[in-house]
Amino acid sequence: MTVSVGIDKIGFYTPNDYLDMVDLATARGEDPNKYLIGIGQSKQAVIPPTQDVVTMAANAADQILTTATKKEIAMVLFGTESGVDNSKATAVYLAHLLGLPSSTRAIELKQACYGATAGLQLAADFLRVHPTAKVLVIGADIARYGLRTPGEVTQGGGAIAMLVTANPQVLALEPTSSYHTEDVMDFWRPTYRTEALVDGRYSTTVYLDFFKTVWTDYQRQTQRTIADFNAFVFHLPFTKMGRKGLRQILPEASPAQQAQLKEAFEASQLDNRHVGNLYTGSLYLSLLSLLRHGRMQAGDRLGLFSYGSGAEGEFFSGILQPHYQQGFDSDKLDQLLAQRRRVSVVEYEAIYQAQLSNDGRDVQLPVGEGQAKYYLAGRQHQQRQ
Ligand code: HMG
Repeated sequence: MTVSVGIDKIGFYTPNDYLDMVDLATARGEDPNKYLIGIGQSKQAVIPPTQDVVTMAANAADQILTTATKKEIAMVLFGTESGVDNSKATAVYLAHLLGLPSSTRAIELKQACYGATAGLQLAADFLRVHPTAKVLVIGADIARYGLRTPGEVTQGGGAIAMLVTANPQVLALEPTSSYHTEDVMDFWRPTYRTEALVDGRYSTTVYLDFFKTVWTDYQRQTQRTIADFNAFVFHLPFTKMGRKGLRQILPEASPAQQAQLKEAFEASQLDNRHVGNLYTGSLYLSLLSLLRHGRMQAGDRLGLFSYGSGAEGEFFSGILQPHYQQGFDSDKLDQLLAQRRRVSVVEYEAIYQAQLSNDGRDVQLPVGEGQAKYYLAGRQHQQRQ
């Protein structure tokens, strides 16, 4: 008998500051509707130097791990493209911060925004063989394009933490998935750069082409059609991107189903619209947003499209479980987003420039009020504190 495996719990963290997209549009001499409607973003997370992918991941994972659960974690699979070291895995720092057992296997995975999906699928396969284990899968990133670039409006950041287990309470993954890889230069970040390089409009075309390819192949493999789905969830570099993805397949649905899928999409983009791109975590924030704001029911089949530039695409599906709402803390997420501080464009630019220098000097970072439980205090002797 095949073991049911998938997402048991989801935690999310994004730092305390945000930039309003009307303020950014005004400062950049753009019509605010280009950002609000054309791109589909209202706010973007601003990441202070005291938060990096390790601390954000710890703050997200802390929400879903009890002392008892920590003892059962067999692996930490950390998807990120904003790593802090070319050798040592972010997962090792994270396992230490969370106090996970030393018997835990801890690895970092990289393929642009696809890394967390790689983690989720590897975790699922591992659990099919080791069903009593638990795996912690992370998607944490800081999306940085540069001041006054076309990509600036699509920045953001944060972390998703998922507990992946057998007999999951949120989403049971179906074993069939379709994936596709091509060597494409749509977005990349050479090791000497802190900002991504991107061929923006081309990247949106590649995203849509990959979606079409894997969706078509998934249907061929499973003999399913759009009528078998209750919602589609997309990697959302900005919310308009997923809207375009959905539009591509909507003609395959009946008029009644089209209305239902559009309604589900609106729910799935709400939280991303206020955080911006978090690269590896974006698809899973969108899933969380759908589960928080959508009218979903146990037994619904969800289709998920993961895309990582460079490029890797995957379409897979899962069945919503009876107690899915117990797998995340919706009120906590509301609070996290509501308590954030709106920073001016001037403050945002100062924070953007205040990233930890790459010369290895000792630094002590100011620890402000309202600091998260886990934060970066600085660097001493070339080591993160
Ligand atoms: P741009 O060139 O400044 O914008 O950059 P545009 O001129 O293409 O306009 C955008 C949209 O706004 C258009 O709508 C305009 O019509 C509309 P569309 O034709 O696309 O439907 N518009 C308006 N709408 C209402 N009122 C107005 C108005 N004015 C214009 N007044 C671009 C846009 C996305 C290219 C840029 O922001 C960028 O380069 N972003 C970064 C790249 C990116 O996010 N790519 C997404 C696909 S790749 C991916 O998802 C992977 C990624 O997450 C990285 C990874 O894998 O690690 C990025």
